[in-house]
Parts: sequence; C-alpha cells; structure tokens
Amino acid sequence: MAFSEDFLWGGATAANQLEGGYNLDGKGLSTADVICVGNVNTKRKITYQLKDGSYGGQEIMPYHDLPENAKCTVDPSLYYPSHDGIDFYHHYKEDIQLFAEMGFKCFRMSINWSRIFPNGDEEKPNEAGLQFYENIFKELKKYNIEPLVTICHYENPVELSNKYGGWINKKVIGFYLNYCHTLFTRYKDYVKYWITFNEINIMNVVPFYSGALRVSDEKSCALAVKNQFIASSKAVQMAHEINPDNMVGLMIANGAIYTNTCHPDDQILRMEKDRERRFYSDVMVRGYYPNYKIKEYERKNIDIQLTDDEKDILKKGTVDFISFSYYESMTVSHDANGSTSNIISGAIKNPYLETTAWGRAIDPQGLRVVLNELYDRYQIPLFIVENGLGTTDELVNGTVEDDYRIDYHRKHIEQMKKAIDEDGVELLGYTTWGCIDLVSAVTGEMKKRYGFIYVDRNNDGSGSLKRYKKKSFDWYKKVIASNGEDLD
Ligand code: BG6
Repeated sequence: MAFSEDFLWGGATAANQLEGGYNLDGKGLSTADVICVGNVNTKRKITYQLKDGSYGGQEIMPYHDLPENAKCTVDPSLYYPSHDGIDFYHHYKEDIQLFAEMGFKCFRMSINWSRIFPNGDEEKPNEAGLQFYENIFKELKKYNIEPLVTICHYENPVELSNKYGGWINKKVIGFYLNYCHTLFTRYKDYVKYWITFNEINIMNVVPFYSGALRVSDEKSCALAVKNQFIASSKAVQMAHEINPDNMVGLMIANGAIYTNTCHPDDQILRMEKDRERRFYSDVMVRGYYPNYKIKEYERKNIDIQLTDDEKDILKKGTVDFISFSYYESMTVSHDANGSTSNIISGAIKNPYLETTAWGRAIDPQGLRVVLNELYDRYQIPLFIVENGLGTTDELVNGTVEDDYRIDYHRKHIEQMKKAIDEDGVELLGYTTWGCIDLVSAVTGEMKKRYGFIYVDRNNDGSGSLKRYKKKSFDWYKKVIASNGEDLD
C-alpha cells in the first residue's frame, strides 16, 4: 500500500473565500474584504477612499503604488464576494458533516485574522471570533477530522495596511506574533498542524494580497518578505514551546517548470525562475539566505539589513514540513512572447498538455517531478495542500456529472503514489483545493468551481446557497475509504 495508514486525505479552503459574515460578531475588515469582484477579462480591484471622499481602485496585478492617503475600504457601489462567500459562517455544521461523509481525515482552513483582532494591532482578542473557530474545531473533532490551519491566507486586517503600510513595517511582526500566541494557546487541544503564511512566495506578484503593501517596488517586497520570514521563524519556535507536538509548515505556490528547448539560455532561465520560489523554501527550511539571493540583492542595490540577531532567529525557527499548492506546469522560453501563466512571466504554451478554460496546463506528471525536487533538496515531509481543477459545472437534476474532475484528481493521485512507492518521497497528506465550491482568489468568481460539493451561488451573489453532491463526491469517498487504492 503506497499511502500510510495515517495519510491525511481531505480538502482545503481559506476563510475569506468561503466564510462570509465579513462584519459579524466584531470582525474588522480584512484586505480580502476590499477587493471587489472581477472575471476572466476584468481584473479585481483593491478599492480605497481618498480624503475628498471619492472612491478609487487599483488592479491586484500588475500592482502599482496606491495614492498617498488612500484608505483601503469598501466602495458601497461595488460587489465584494468575500462579504458573503458561501456563508460557511452559518453553514459550517452542514458542510463539515458532508466532509465527514466523504471520510475526510483532514480539513485545511484558515483563520481570518480580523475576526480575532479586528484592526490587527489590539492587545486583546475578540472573544466572539475565537469562539467561532473553537466551534469549528469541536465540530471537526466530533468526526475525527484533523484541522490544518493557515494562520494568514491573504487575510491581513486592512488597518495594518492603512495605518502601518503592511508587512514592510516591523511592528506588524509583533502584531502577528500576538495573534499567533492567542491561537496556539487557545487551540492547544484542537490544532496540531499549522501553516504560517499561504503561498509566501508571491509577494512580488501580488504585494497587497500577500503583504498588505501599498507600494510595489522590489526593495519594499524584499523587506516585507524578510519580516514575514522573521515572524514565521518566531512563530515556529513559539508553537513548539507551547506544544511540542505542534507541526508548523511553510507554504509555497509550486508548479513544475519546464524549458521549451534545449537551448542553454532556456536552462539558465529555468534556473532563475526556479530560484524565484526556491529562495523561500531555502530560507525557511535551511535557516539562512542562500548565496544566489544575497548576490542578486547586491546587484540590485537592495539592502535588507539582516542583523546577526535576525540570522539567529531564522536558524532557530526552521519549519517541520513543506506544504505547497500544485495546479500546473509552466514552460519557459528565453524568447517567449506569449504568456499562459499568471505566476511566471515568460511562460509559454506547452503543446503536449491540455489547458483549463482559465489557462492552466494540466500536468499530473509535473506533480511527481515537483515532489521529487522538493524531497531531494530538503528531506523533510511534504504536504500537498492545494490541487484541483477550477472549471464551470452544470447542475442537472441535483448533481454534476464531473468526470473531468475525477479524471484530474485520479491522475494526480497516481503520480503521488509513484512518488511515494517508486521514489520514496515522504508525503503527509493531500488536501484538494476548494473541496466545496468557493470564491476564486484571482478573479473573485463563483463559476470557477473546484468542489466535490456544488454550492448554488453565482458570480453576482445570487443563488440559494444550497449544497449538492457532485459525482466526484462519491468517487473521492471511495478513494479515501480504500486509502488511495481504488481510483476507478
Ligand atoms: C492558490 C491560493 O493560489 O490558488 C488560493 O492559495 C486560490 O487561495 C487557489 O483560490 C486557486 O486560485 P483561483 O484563482 O482559481 O481561486
């Protein structure tokens, strides 16, 4: 049997993409709450109000500096999908019951920081927010579902941006650690698996999402990343002190990267693109900045002012496991002129692979490549915490015949099996992205669906919110029941 008896099968979500209840029970606004809806053609915008009372918006990417004195907030004339999500806030019992019916061993979720600290900088937490998550953990415990908690999944309290400029400000480290301390102590008996930051490697792509930054230059991003590294390392140490059983992981977006040709320039480009994300796992697993990054900063005249104390913190706070999202492979070419990828510039279409309607190249074998690359380099346990097919579904007679989704997961699980069986990779678990339909992060749409459970909710916020089991629901149930042996 490829998968260990305690392999963590399950699903993954993020608070801002499913909870809703954005202003209930004392919750403050998070950065996600000020990003209005978009679609395939229209980018989502971060909205703000200027001193004269007028509203403005800045596309999430490419990101440009926000006007000075702009206060990020909600523009009452626009629609914000995070405000209602799929109303998990009121449906969590029903949803967790459905996860249990599928046999989930694990549920990846995030805590919405601004539910616990509405502005981010308070000393005392909001009890109603803490109680909400405790209720969720109790519900999960009822079904023996292990929570995997992302502490910050693009959900910085927006006031940390308005007041402090986001993660470029060292004060935010202290606020984050106060938040972590609150979570680690309050949920000591419920949560063992933690992730410090979702996709920490995308600061340069979406500085507002990732770091609540109001500026976009490389130096500011480098400083914000350094502050997140320090915060993460201190959080790892704190988590271990509070409960030695705690397992704390990093999380990166980690697709496979291929070269278009055997041209040496393509190989160098691949190496550079690979380092753009490897840098993050290098620091967080090994505990120091790699030489290639130090040299790059020197060339670019970026001084991150890393002190000896900070170096020591990085060394002492290395992570227990590596988690990552995997959706696609990207093919890079030194003479690329077309891009099919959101994340990697210079990526071109791979003629051997099919792409989703949202332009992602479907590549199960790439997952095996990535698992091996990560394990060969670090030899610590891996966790696939996001993988899935985002596409449109048609609800007919109360269900969705989503054979395409079954096929996608089957092929990815087959490659996980090979990585474990044939290559000896250590894999803790697999939580598929958006196990229940939720709001898309990049476009804010509902019609880009990933779930085994269909939610009647549309892009414009209409719909009954009723839940329906798709065909893949029963399929995944069978996969889990057979511990990955029965994939038919
Ligand atoms: C990951 C994020 O990058 O991709 C998730 O961690 C996100 O929050 C997921 O939802 C899928 O992207 P999208 O845009 O299809 O929702």
